[in-house]
Amino acid sequence: MSESKDVRVLFVCLGNICRSPIAHGVFEHKVARAGLASKIDVDSCGTSSYHVGEQPDPGSIAVCRSAGIDITNQRSRQLKNHDFEGFDLLIAMDRSNLSNMKRMGPASAIDRLHLFRGFHPDAPRGAEVPDPWGGGTDGFRTVYDIVDSTTDHLLSWVCERYALKSDT
Ligand code: 4NP
Repeated sequence: MSESKDVRVLFVCLGNICRSPIAHGVFEHKVARAGLASKIDVDSCGTSSYHVGEQPDPGSIAVCRSAGIDITNQRSRQLKNHDFEGFDLLIAMDRSNLSNMKRMGPASAIDRLHLFRGFHPDAPRGAEVPDPWGGGTDGFRTVYDIVDSTTDHLLSWVCERYALKSDT
């Protein structure tokens, strides 16, 4: 059996105010609940600089709050070159984010770049997390539901891939 090691996970969308903050908050919550907070680092960022320094969108804050998850401490930041070295998994919320990451990152990082919904066994190939920005609450609920189901599979995958065991 391989030795346990720390894993660093980065969720990436365009603005880092809607989709990736939800994934960041929900996955971090599940990691903590599983007693794995000391073994898995979670972060998020955007490929654009449009909203750098801003809190998540009120729709993202509200849908997370309704599940008991507080994401108000998050602030938008832009993906940087250093992230391609610092993270084990860089997970794009849509195909456009993924192609921007492939263009920006070194060839050596390609195996660490993933499409988020690819971790769900029932998602169609190439499925994306729809952008809820500027829309109503339904869009944020849709994102939350996709994130909630996909992160269950992601956490199982990470635990198996990195041979992680819960602290609790
Ligand atoms: P996100 O949503 O990528 O899920 O954070 C968006 C936020 C802002 C913009 C687009 C998408 N924007 O064009 O400013």
